[in-house]
Amino acid sequence: MKNILVTGGAGFIGSNFIRFILRQEPDIQVVNLDKLTYAGRMENLQDLPDPQRHIFVKGDVCDRDLVQRLLRQHRIDTIVHFAAETHVDRSISAPDQFIQTNVIGTHTLLEAARAYWLEEGGPGETSVRFHHVSTDEVYGDLRPGEPAWTEETPYDPSSPYSASKAASDHLVRAYGRTYQMPYTITNCTNNYGPYQFPEKLIPLMLINMVAGKPLPVYGDGGQIRDWLYVEDHCEAIWRVLRRGTPGETYNIGGNNQPTNLAVVQTLCDIADELLHDSPHAPHAQLITYVKDRPGHDRRYAMDITKIRTQLGWEPRQSLESGLLATFKWYLEHAEWVSQINRQADFQNWLELNYTKRTP
Ligand code: NAD
Ligand code: TYD
Repeated sequence: MKNILVTGGAGFIGSNFIRFILRQEPDIQVVNLDKLTYAGRMENLQDLPDPQRHIFVKGDVCDRDLVQRLLRQHRIDTIVHFAAETHVDRSISAPDQFIQTNVIGTHTLLEAARAYWLEEGGPGETSVRFHHVSTDEVYGDLRPGEPAWTEETPYDPSSPYSASKAASDHLVRAYGRTYQMPYTITNCTNNYGPYQFPEKLIPLMLINMVAGKPLPVYGDGGQIRDWLYVEDHCEAIWRVLRRGTPGETYNIGGNNQPTNLAVVQTLCDIADELLHDSPHAPHAQLITYVKDRPGHDRRYAMDITKIRTQLGWEPRQSLESGLLATFKWYLEHAEWVSQINRQADFQNWLELNYTKRTP
């Protein structure tokens, strides 16, 4: 692993991953291809360790000529593919871009990698790897009492987002089988932590608490997610790149399954402690039940035995310590939050998603 192409590296997990890998691997060069959609922000890439080993390229993963040129020009031996449209609610309102980026974009990268690595001989003797970053949501919705998902669980996606991610996973595996593309896939549970765009549950709740705005809980708040601190996810991907077996999939998760309401309540408790002078305390009074998400998955749970036993990875951060660290990060980065708050398209999204939901 010498020259890595990271796609979507200006987004939440991608930017954390670039920070992690530059710290961890002193000899690698990172090329970061990102379209800078609403979710991609150059601010996420400030303060990179050793920034001269990071090259940013603004562009679309669906642009075959650009991807092909980057692979050749930088002698890319490893692709770590994060770029995607990622918000389930947006996929329900407007699914087209999810199919374009998540399916066509992944296909474009695979075709470019096939041409450069498998047909032209690529970066010579160096071994190559296509690592695809995917989600637990491809497995669908667990009924009460059903066991946690393993890597063998059949796919059963519910939303346009998860269906598009499932399609991209299938393409990656098909390239492995048909063309012997050396790939690995990781399917990870819900992430949280620094630089997460505040359309997702945890950062949205944090910024609303600080502003004294309602905390919109979908349905009865009894849905269950498995939460992982983003840095733990980055370490898991790095382990898979270093020690994972080509052609294998690894499930990643945080070993916790609280209800959404329990997560929001924990955040309210943290807010009460960190912001005890706030006129909005106790913050739990801001909790507002709103109309549920269509097709809302009730429960996710991941079996992480494989990555634990084969690669020795386990989450380091507990949910409580991770939520506290995340809350502090958002309080310390008020300018990062307010830049997003000032964007008309973010305000339009809040209007579109929440106005019609009011109880
Ligand atoms: P994000 O929405 O924060 O960032 C996505 C990034 O991709 C942005 O920087 C955006 O500009 C870029 N991008 C979007 N379309 C692009 C295109 N056509 N070409 C180039 N760049 C493009 O996403 P995230 O939460 O960091 O998720 C990253 C990856 O991890 C995704 O593939 C997602 O499916 C997966 N994942 C996310 C979670 C989670 O909880 N966030 C959990 C498991 C898996
Ligand atoms: P989200 O962060 O959007 O991630 P995902 O849908 O990929 O799991 O949502 C996490 C959970 O929180 C999900 O069950 C939907 C719920 N949710 C709310 O209750 N209110 C909200 O405002 C949001 C954004 C999500």
